[in-house]
Amino acid sequence: MTVCVLHVAAEMYPLLKTGGLADVVGALPPAQSQLGTDARVLLPGFPAVLGGLADLEPVADLGAVFGAGAVRLERGVLAPHGVVVYVVRADAFYDRPGNPYLDASHHPYADNDRRFALLGWAAARIATGADPGWTPHIVHAHDWHAGLAPAYLRAFERQSGRPRVPSVMTVHNLAYQGTFAAEHFGVLQLPHDFYSIDGVEFYGHVSFLKAGLFYAERITTVSPTYAREIQTQAQGAGLHGLLQTRSHDISGILNGVDYAIWNPSADTTIDTRYTAAKPAGKAKCKAALQERMGLAKSDDALLFGVVSRLTEQKGLDLLLSSIPDIVQRGGQLAVLGTGDPALETGMKNAAAAHPGAVAVELGFDETLSHAIIAGSDIVMVPSRFEPCGLTQLYALAYGSLPLVHRVGGLADTVVDASLENLADQLATGCVFETFDRDGIVAAIRRAFALRSRRTDWKAVVRRAMTQNFGWEAAALRYGEVYGDIVRR
Ligand code: ADP
Ligand code: GLC
Repeated sequence: MTVCVLHVAAEMYPLLKTGGLADVVGALPPAQSQLGTDARVLLPGFPAVLGGLADLEPVADLGAVFGAGAVRLERGVLAPHGVVVYVVRADAFYDRPGNPYLDASHHPYADNDRRFALLGWAAARIATGADPGWTPHIVHAHDWHAGLAPAYLRAFERQSGRPRVPSVMTVHNLAYQGTFAAEHFGVLQLPHDFYSIDGVEFYGHVSFLKAGLFYAERITTVSPTYAREIQTQAQGAGLHGLLQTRSHDISGILNGVDYAIWNPSADTTIDTRYTAAKPAGKAKCKAALQERMGLAKSDDALLFGVVSRLTEQKGLDLLLSSIPDIVQRGGQLAVLGTGDPALETGMKNAAAAHPGAVAVELGFDETLSHAIIAGSDIVMVPSRFEPCGLTQLYALAYGSLPLVHRVGGLADTVVDASLENLADQLATGCVFETFDRDGIVAAIRRAFALRSRRTDWKAVVRRAMTQNFGWEAAALRYGEVYGDIVRR
């Protein structure tokens, strides 16, 4: 039997991306298709989504719901891999320029509850036959934006008496929960008793993520370590109690790398392509990056790169405090990011204080992100917490050694260049344990020391580049999760 799965998410690369969620939703469905699963995606009809799909055609009128006016379900195809993408067409909700979640002054849109309730509700409509030609066996909801899908599946089951399609809730980041004041519950069109501790209620609010965690048959998150961390009080963001009760239903499945996009031997966006066996082009990428960002041209300067959302999560305040330690040792720093105004200012000030040694570009730039991942010697991901993290995986593929805090998916993917790990031929980067200045500075020092031992450095770079984090392993694990609940 071909398993049919409907992924429900707010972003999908290359249509629309603000972070790693988009990369996952862009790569997992085609990897699943390779294994014989019929994986499709449901997205809100944001302008970039509508503009990027071929052969968009109407599938069904879904009526006037949530005050969105007439809502239509449409279906298109995403080239080049041919994944079928359903779109919720509700222009009053989604036809807005810029960031999909925030208005021009960076505040969440006031109607985000209804905008994303509609997404979950539309998923449940597809699961109950809205497309006469296709019905999923599984609904796979990603993050809070899709968190109400499992709740609507239960509600529709109760209304119709027909058994529900089971669902999987994947947590990409527990820090974003989609919580709204209690009075918003009324607009969601869920049964009254769903507003309960055994339901969508969370400390007197409505929580979309909690709804998904409560009503989905299975829960997954994006690394084994994060799956354990979120069940602790310290890192459970208030949801650890619920997650502990569901411990047996939780799987930590590590994200992968889409090597069609992130591969230095085939990447058409970088200055010069290279491989682990023939790495010479990497130095050209470094020179091009230094030139592009206004850094002093020097192959000797150890170049640290950052590509990141600028948020508290990413630990870039710690990075800022360690910049003198990089610069005094003759190192350089290239940063691409956008986000919190305070961090943006901190970065700009650092660049102004160290011209030629620290360069910062504020904004979202896919091409420059590849240039930094390829051209850096070290890619820094000093996150406070990190569900999986993708940039350190991309860095490995490009032979740019990750320097990371040992947390979440970073702990699962980077092996520290300790003497033992070097001797055992396991090292792939620099890992620090304690999230403080001493911790990151010690790791920076070790990066410089490793670089001065050329043979060790080259061996670690080669090992980094030959790690395999392809999506097939994750696709197989998700297949097991689906198999479990379809058989139930
Ligand atoms: P998160 O999802 O928490 O932001 P990940 O490491 O999982 O972190 O994924 C981040 C993704 O977003 C990567 O593909 C990274 O290259 C990309 N990215 C982050 N910031 C930028 C930016 N300013 N410009 C371009 N790409 C970015
Ligand atoms: C989230 C997490 C990140 C993860 C990404 C994709 O944005 O912050 O760690 O890699 O989702 O799962």
